[in-house]
Amino acid sequence: MIVDRQGRRFRNLRVSLTAACNYACTYCVPDGKRLVAAQDELSADALARGVAYLVEAAGIERLRITGGEPLVSPRLEAFLAAVGKLGLEDISLTSNGQLLSRKLPLLRDAGIRRLNISLDTLDPLAFRRIARGGDLASVLAGMAQAHAAGMAIKVNMVPMRGQNLDQVMPMLEYCLAQGYELRFIELMRMGHLARDRNAFVQQFVGLEQLLALIGQAHAYEQAPRALDATALRYRIPGKGHFGVIANETVPFCRTCSRLRLSSTGWLHGCLSSSNRHFVGDLLDKPRHQALPALQRLLVKALADKQDQAFSGDVMVMKVIGG
Ligand code: 5AD
Repeated sequence: MIVDRQGRRFRNLRVSLTAACNYACTYCVPDGKRLVAAQDELSADALARGVAYLVEAAGIERLRITGGEPLVSPRLEAFLAAVGKLGLEDISLTSNGQLLSRKLPLLRDAGIRRLNISLDTLDPLAFRRIARGGDLASVLAGMAQAHAAGMAIKVNMVPMRGQNLDQVMPMLEYCLAQGYELRFIELMRMGHLARDRNAFVQQFVGLEQLLALIGQAHAYEQAPRALDATALRYRIPGKGHFGVIANETVPFCRTCSRLRLSSTGWLHGCLSSSNRHFVGDLLDKPRHQALPALQRLLVKALADKQDQAFSGDVMVMKVIGG
């Protein structure tokens, strides 16, 4: 097992199936252009072999499938079939939900029981302004169908001043009523937001402000959470839970157990570092050749983690999907 001085190790793997996305969210892409798949994206089998090798080399226990937007990838079905055979404790998926209705049978049959859906507003106009693609009604319908099919739904919302701060309470009430767990993600300094300090500061909404807003309508208490969880969790007695991923206010680097594999075969040990390590070539090699080489790269990737706090990077979320 590869462990660093802070006792951190890789336990959770996120695989970006594609860099392509059917949205162009303001915090992800500055120019409003939708992202297309990278030319050199790996095959479903190579990515699944990457997961298998990383389970062995790093002790990965849980897998999250991300993008880009994973549901737009033509490799989704083959990838799910291949990773389904690996005996992982948990496979979950992060999606913008736009194609959820259509892909639900596939996800259900693959044993996916937990979804994180990115949704920043319930206002159709604001939705178009922020996501710059897709439509709100499809997302809401997809979530309802997935929930009815027995899946646990978490909703990710990035609250931003001037964009959707007025949606904090409507989103919370909606999620509580539907039985979804809403998680507010503090805006991160990634991509253009790492370069443009003004844009970041103007939009940033932090934990204290969120709790003050919510506290006006609900009594809440802190709820237990996993040791390496990124979200602070709160319970509103009798109504449900919500969480805050307070990346800036309460950094969680010290307990971070995440490892990311991009669709083009790069390992990322930290969202806040531009270091990355190419493993695409190793995934075609047999196990006895691949594992020692992977282990050397994993030591480097672990060393890329920040000591205490996220410092921001120009890398954009599209590449590694959160
Ligand atoms: N800051 C905070 N959250 C972000 N996401 C994408 N970019 C940013 C950013 N700069 C969120 C998406 C999605 C999750 C994977 O990450 O909204 O819910």
